[in-house]
Amino acid sequence: MHAPSPDAPILFFDSGLGGLTVLGPTRALLPTAPIVYAADYAGLPYGKKSDEELAARVPALLGRLVERYQPRLAVIACNTASTIALPHVRAALDLPIVGTVPAIKPAAEMTTSGVIGVLGTEATVRQPYVDDLSARFAAGKTVLRHGSPGLVTAAEAKLHGLPVDLGAVRDAIAGLRDQPGGDAIDVIVLACTHFPLLRDELQALAGPGVALIDGAAGIARRIASLTQGQRWPAEARPGTAAFTHSNASPPPSRSALAPYGIGHIETI
Ligand code: DGL
Repeated sequence: MHAPSPDAPILFFDSGLGGLTVLGPTRALLPTAPIVYAADYAGLPYGKKSDEELAARVPALLGRLVERYQPRLAVIACNTASTIALPHVRAALDLPIVGTVPAIKPAAEMTTSGVIGVLGTEATVRQPYVDDLSARFAAGKTVLRHGSPGLVTAAEAKLHGLPVDLGAVRDAIAGLRDQPGGDAIDVIVLACTHFPLLRDELQALAGPGVALIDGAAGIARRIASLTQGQRWPAEARPGTAAFTHSNASPPPSRSALAPYGIGHIETI
């Protein structure tokens, strides 16, 4: 493959705004990287969809996005889409694809009680991929999982400037704690990219003795390493956010996206 032009963007993809939590640390490492942030609002929430639907939908949509924006690399900044559709996307598209998977390995290294909580979408927590990560990296530890659709809605509301439903945050923590052995959880993996948008709310309810971790910093490092030696523009320019059309979910305001370096919003 020949070297990408400096203007070729990095494409971030999620069902909604969760992928911004991966975009943030990536911009810190690659401040002038051109950015396209794509959110599939027409398909949100992915956590409620079947594996078959996502395995077909995600590669098809990413194919359209790659054709339109000609990125140098695509990031599936969504645990649900990654744990289900990553192999299908890699088989269908001819560019580097970075996925997002639950940070079970660092959680297993960090726990002292030996009990880890994994908070994701319903679709993510039922994946064999999560069984596999637990078996490989957390053997001998207890891994408790809970799927929380309410946190996705609450995170979206927060970035739309609406009040956060603290009941949803409480239910999510209780969904882990109320399981047998749940009292001993000392690390919670935020296995949905939306959830770090609610880090303060989750931390307040989980308590100071519980560490919350996600994989965003590691993904940012992976993106920087895969693009090492490539050329970038001399100065940062405003990025683009593209939303698939949904009557139910209008895009957020420009000011909500400005801290992530996004200046243009389009509907596709
Ligand atoms: N942000 C997504 C994830 O990381 C999914 C949210 C959803 O659409 O349910 O899993």
